[in-house]
Amino acid sequence: MFDEEHSADVVAASFGATPDERLKEILTSLVRHAHAFVKDVGLTTEEWTAGIRFLTETGQKCDATRQEFILLSDVLGVSMLVETINNRAEDGGTESTVEGPFHMVASPPRALGDSIDLVGNGEPCLVTGRVVDTAGRPVGGASVDVWQADADGFYDVQRPDEVPRQNLRGRFTADADGRFHFRTVVPRFYPIPTDGPVGRLLGATRRHPNRAAHIHLEVSAPGIRTLTTHLFVDGSPYLDSDAVFGVKESLIREFAPVDDPARAAGLGLPNPFRAVDFPIVVQPAAAG
Ligand code: BEZ
Ligand code: FE
Repeated sequence: MFDEEHSADVVAASFGATPDERLKEILTSLVRHAHAFVKDVGLTTEEWTAGIRFLTETGQKCDATRQEFILLSDVLGVSMLVETINNRAEDGGTESTVEGPFHMVASPPRALGDSIDLVGNGEPCLVTGRVVDTAGRPVGGASVDVWQADADGFYDVQRPDEVPRQNLRGRFTADADGRFHFRTVVPRFYPIPTDGPVGRLLGATRRHPNRAAHIHLEVSAPGIRTLTTHLFVDGSPYLDSDAVFGVKESLIREFAPVDDPARAAGLGLPNPFRAVDFPIVVQPAAAG
């Protein structure tokens, strides 16, 4: 029978006939942790009600473009934990981070060297890189999909009336030597959406909502494990307190100032500009 001492055992036993072993394992563990949590904090009825209301409002905030539950998972560090344990960087592979909600628009195909900045507001910047596998062999033809916030900390989709669609987005194809380069502007740090329950949670806990400045990259090719990662701007505020715990030391790079009129002219950039190199090591796709 259900009682305080045996509550988790009784509920876990109710799943005994579940044919899907993995489902049984997950539900049993979930119930054990949930019951331990309720006992640990001595949850009151009012607190349980407030929690249910919070989760209900989190669901109600979701629509086709807004996913408040993922945002909740993000600020609790759960998204980064799932990402990290499922994409361990082995044999020198580049570390991964969360994809985030702003990859909702397909990036337009662009030619190597193109600019993804359709506005011209911000510090001009050259991004270069090379995609290699864990044996150091170039991954020629790899797809390098990039998207980023602008110099004011906004993605194009957040200001559709002011900024052209697909601003600061592009899908590049690495050359035969795995190399890619493109022009852009240096992104700024920005706040995650705070106009919902997750924003209230951050406010109540005196946490700031900001993400350190970064460029998103998704690198894919046949036979490799797709890499979803960020290139972080060294010196950006919030590198040590990113709101979604997305920063990994190995992904921070200097965006070095360059004052070289001839090189700038050759690249089609104003002088001076900033330059960053981001070598990428991808891992083989999982067998099977
Ligand atoms: C982003 O980097 O785009 C992002 C990630 C998690 C939550 C909000 C934004
Ligand atoms: Fe982002």
